[in-house]
Amino acid sequence: MTTVGDLLIDSVAALSKAGVKEARLDARLIIAHALNITPEKVFGYPEKVLETGERDYILSLITRRVEREPLALIIGEKEFWSLRFVISPATLIPRPDSETLIEAVLAAYPDKKANLRILDLGTGSGCLLLTLLHEYENATGIGTDFSSEALAVARLNGRNLDLSLRAGFVLADWNDGIADFGAFDIIISNPPYIPDGEESELQPEVALYEPHSALFAGIDGLQYYRAILSVLSGLANTGCGIFFEVGINQGEAVARMMEKAGMSDITSRSDLAGIKRCVSGKIL
Ligand SMILES: C[S@@+](CC[C@H](N)C(=O)[O-])C[C@H]1O[C@@H](n2cnc3c(N)ncnc32)[C@H](O)[C@@H]1O
Repeated sequence: MTTVGDLLIDSVAALSKAGVKEARLDARLIIAHALNITPEKVFGYPEKVLETGERDYILSLITRRVEREPLALIIGEKEFWSLRFVISPATLIPRPDSETLIEAVLAAYPDKKANLRILDLGTGSGCLLLTLLHEYENATGIGTDFSSEALAVARLNGRNLDLSLRAGFVLADWNDGIADFGAFDIIISNPPYIPDGEESELQPEVALYEPHSALFAGIDGLQYYRAILSVLSGLANTGCGIFFEVGINQGEAVARMMEKAGMSDITSRSDLAGIKRCVSGKIL
């Protein structure tokens, strides 16, 4: 006979031993997910006896976490900007740092009723584009990615958030140029930006489970900013805002590239850790 309380203690021990930092929180969230109850209830009913099937299912999920599969992949979703996004092995897991780009767009475009057209290059789960469409009730947008599996997840998120009438998701590789989607008022991108050589420094959750095509970007991590900047002409309305997420210490280099590409009003915004996380500019 196994109770929720017993299983919680064993799970926390197994996760801690495996080097999982937030062992207690993760164990609680996994048990809550498996039993379809709120995380609070996991602590509230320690004496609840589990059926064998329930116990085995929880143990299988805990084992995945012990193997350092990210919690978000195990439970299949991640919160971003207080919205829930379905994710899959084909999508990057939305990061809190990326909320900096959302803040930067909101600061630059304070009119929430504006009729904006937004393009998101490398949309993944669609979290950036869909969050902006959630904030700007009259905006429409296109998210592109070269992964059709990621686009299927983005479309599902669009439906779940009731935004599918304003969001289109299109298969496109920015190395082939960008198709004629018309002109946009805002172009955003969080491209892969980790230098290839830094793979060994990543946590196992990232290196082993997230799509490498969403992470790595050549020797200096900057190759996709170059590629994207070279295909933007024709996609921008006059005064179009360009917003890039950047990696640690990449802000200056990306700002210089944008300047060289003729953009004006180049500025950056830092994340909560004080790291320059978003560089933006205008195409005049
Ligand atoms: C860092 S992830 C960002 C995903 C999402 N926008 C987010 O912020 O969570 C980069 C995305 O760019 C896509 N990508 C990488 N190379 C691409 C290319 N050449 N053309 C189009 N999309 C690409 C990847 O599939 C991935 O979804």
